[in-house]
Amino acid sequence: MSKTFRIAPSILSADFARLGEEVRHVIAAGADWIHFDVMDNHYVPNLTFGPMVCQALKPHAKTPDGKAVPIDVHLMVQPVDALAEAFAAAGADLISFHPDASGHVHRSVQAIKAKGCQAGLVFNPAQPLDVLDWVIEDIDLILIMSVNPGFGGQSFIDSALRKVEAARKRIEASGKDIRLEVDGGIKVDNIRRVADAGADTFVAGSAIFGKPDYRAVIQAMRQALA
Ligand code: DX5
Ligand code: ZN
Repeated sequence: MSKTFRIAPSILSADFARLGEEVRHVIAAGADWIHFDVMDNHYVPNLTFGPMVCQALKPHAKTPDGKAVPIDVHLMVQPVDALAEAFAAAGADLISFHPDASGHVHRSVQAIKAKGCQAGLVFNPAQPLDVLDWVIEDIDLILIMSVNPGFGGQSFIDSALRKVEAARKRIEASGKDIRLEVDGGIKVDNIRRVADAGADTFVAGSAIFGKPDYRAVIQAMRQALA
């Protein structure tokens, strides 16, 4: 299993009136990836931002010394393909989608990779991992939802831990280097349990952007993981 833990702050909980500054600030505070939650008011009952906002933020997604920080796009949209392509063109580094939102999951994965991005599949709390039987060889990331998608600030759903364990087993059996990310309700006081279940990448929105000192939260998370 990969021992490199990554913290991916979700800008869903950032100040939308100052997004560029928020991205720079959270990167300076130690963020490894920027998690970008795209909601379409159709697949989920909320509406956020699209590829133009991603493109505008791309120049801000770098460390103070100029190193690019990956933009981790989580598509909560249906259909998937046209927007996935638009996000690839807008500078996304990883693009994940919900398999139930695509009519042709394998094709959507290939389309994302053909644009030079890493591809991920996202699993809602009540969804099985079965589709991985057929596409795990093709993907770079598995994202387990530990809340129902659509809103920040919800409580962690414990059954996600069992799903993370199951996903970790599948990754090990595949022999592939696949990231295992968890999204929803992650805080300083539960991140360790999520890591112990097998996750290596952690999305956190309200836990980070809801506090004045982003660096203190990210450091406390890393300490909990150490
Ligand atoms: C929910 C989003 C999450 C959310 C996490 O649909 O995918 O990324 O922003 O927010 P918190 O960390 O506040 O649960
Ligand atoms: Zn997300």
